[in-house]
Amino acid sequence: MSTQRKTIIAGNWKMNKTMGEGKDLVSAIAAATKGKADLPEVVVCPPFTLIHEVAEAAKGSAVKVGAQNMDYRDEGAYTGEISPVMLTKLGVTHVIIGHSERRQFFGETNGTVNLRLKAALKHNLVPIVCVGETLDEREEGLTDAVIRRQTAASLADIDETDLETIVYAYEPVWAIGTGKTCEAAEADRVCALIRATVNEFYSKGEGPKSSAADQIPVLYGGSVKPSNIAEQLALPNIDGSLVGGASLTAPDFVALIEAGSKRVKLTPSGA
Ligand code: 13P
Repeated sequence: MSTQRKTIIAGNWKMNKTMGEGKDLVSAIAAATKGKADLPEVVVCPPFTLIHEVAEAAKGSAVKVGAQNMDYRDEGAYTGEISPVMLTKLGVTHVIIGHSERRQFFGETNGTVNLRLKAALKHNLVPIVCVGETLDEREEGLTDAVIRRQTAASLADIDETDLETIVYAYEPVWAIGTGKTCEAAEADRVCALIRATVNEFYSKGEGPKSSAADQIPVLYGGSVKPSNIAEQLALPNIDGSLVGGASLTAPDFVALIEAGSKRVKLTPSGA
């Protein structure tokens, strides 16, 4: 494996867990990772209501806390929204942006993904930007066009120096929560396409390619489980996982972290 890129195992709890349950889950993950060498970057993204207790329980451990979404404005009359300022004050370090469920059910567009990405960077949050095609798009042969469009649109007016902070996640919509995993080789190909698209976005004509783009971690998400993660992480373009269902129980999530550790061991500078 040639990459120097970081390995990241991130859990997206979605609309699951209540007070107490969140604390128990993160405490179990923190205990299982305590003192372990070669850990990947471990992130859990609970619902907003649990961020405070999860961040408290994760203190002093290797587990970082992310949000599943955020508004792009700092404050104001936006009923029901949560701002990046509020999140950073809670100890949040990461934020998922443009998840397909936000795009599908809550009106997120490529334009608002770009605004959120800029807001995350402004507030020193690590953005995990999700892109992915629907089943119809895949069946119509539009996968690559959709991935290129979503990736390039997310980067509008973003400085190349910010690439150091950005993480992408390839999440084919048809593989989310369905038990249908994207074949590892195909997931690897699309992860490479995301990085190539970033590269082209910042390349000037025939001039040098963006070396910063080569360092962007790209995760795969969609029915990742302990039984299929190893073959995904064995491939050169998949730098980690964004996990829904299997992040909701400690034994499964810890098994995924252990698979991430194996990748870190193979790429020591990528921890
Ligand atoms: P599942 O792992 O449940 O398919 O969810 C993937 C996902 O949407 C993570 O953001």
